[in-house]
Amino acid sequence: MSLQIEALNCELNGQTILHDISLPALQSGTVVALAGPNGSGKSTLMRALAGIIPARSKRLCLNGTDLTRLGELDRADQLRYLPQDLPPLLDLTVLDALRVALNARKRAARTAAAPEALAILTELELSHLAERSLRTLSGGQRQLTGLAQALCRPPRVLLLDEPVSALDLHFQHHILRTLRTLSKRHSLLIIVVLHDLNHVLRYTDHVVVLHQGGIAATGIPGKVLTPELLNAVFAVQARLETCSQGILHLIIDQPSPGLSSTRDQTL
Ligand SMILES: Nc1ncnc2c1ncn2[C@@H]1O[C@H](COP(=O)(O)OP(=O)(O)OP(=O)(O)O)[C@@H](O)[C@H]1O
Ligand SMILES: [Mg+2]
Repeated sequence: MSLQIEALNCELNGQTILHDISLPALQSGTVVALAGPNGSGKSTLMRALAGIIPARSKRLCLNGTDLTRLGELDRADQLRYLPQDLPPLLDLTVLDALRVALNARKRAARTAAAPEALAILTELELSHLAERSLRTLSGGQRQLTGLAQALCRPPRVLLLDEPVSALDLHFQHHILRTLRTLSKRHSLLIIVVLHDLNHVLRYTDHVVVLHQGGIAATGIPGKVLTPELLNAVFAVQARLETCSQGILHLIIDQPSPGLSSTRDQTL
């Protein structure tokens, strides 16, 4: 199974936000990072892939099926999107919120989904929150609950927009490791927006770097994230070093002088 994106363009309010996005086929069972500065178009690309906002493309296919021909619910079954901003809180417990997500397209009794919902909570180390009301959760706990909901009824493609931005160190690493495991177990393609490039290096198979609405680079993270690219796109002076355990780490020396004001220019 693969996702093919060719010549995707997106305009919002008369402004070009994404131009000519073409990628090598993205494969199931892999985790693909979407990186880039603020305003570079990451969330817009996620929303365009999910069909939430309109986009034109030469080709947008999942395993040969033209996604643009699918109805809204069928497309959401294939590609599930977890937004960067969480929706307003409902008066539900965490477990009920998961049951609702599991039964979203069924009329089955809500209680029937309890074992599946509990299994997801256990895998994410969240079972202690099962009976808590959504209204009483901390920011990070809400973000984790949103992720647990997105993992209900695994789709083919999971689109996660900054899923670890509010999480503490343990959960950042636990969630990213778990996503890797789930991508293999369910043959899922996971596309995840990450700002921390060390997470990109450690947990993802492929990175797509966006800059000013276009593709700046794409490929294996350790090969793509060169000092030149980090300077040109992220406006930092940085280097990659291999630590004593053989893991590549990005070390930021300093912000590049004079580049920050030119980063988010209108196209
Ligand atoms: N509805 C809209 N109308 C006009 N411009 C928009 C609209 N939505 C987003 N934009 C612009 O599109 C550009 C890309 O926004 P987007 O939210 O995709 O960025 P991002 O890469 O996700 O940034 P961040 O890292 O801050 O979340 C920005 O310049 C933003 O101002
Ligand atoms: Mg965004």
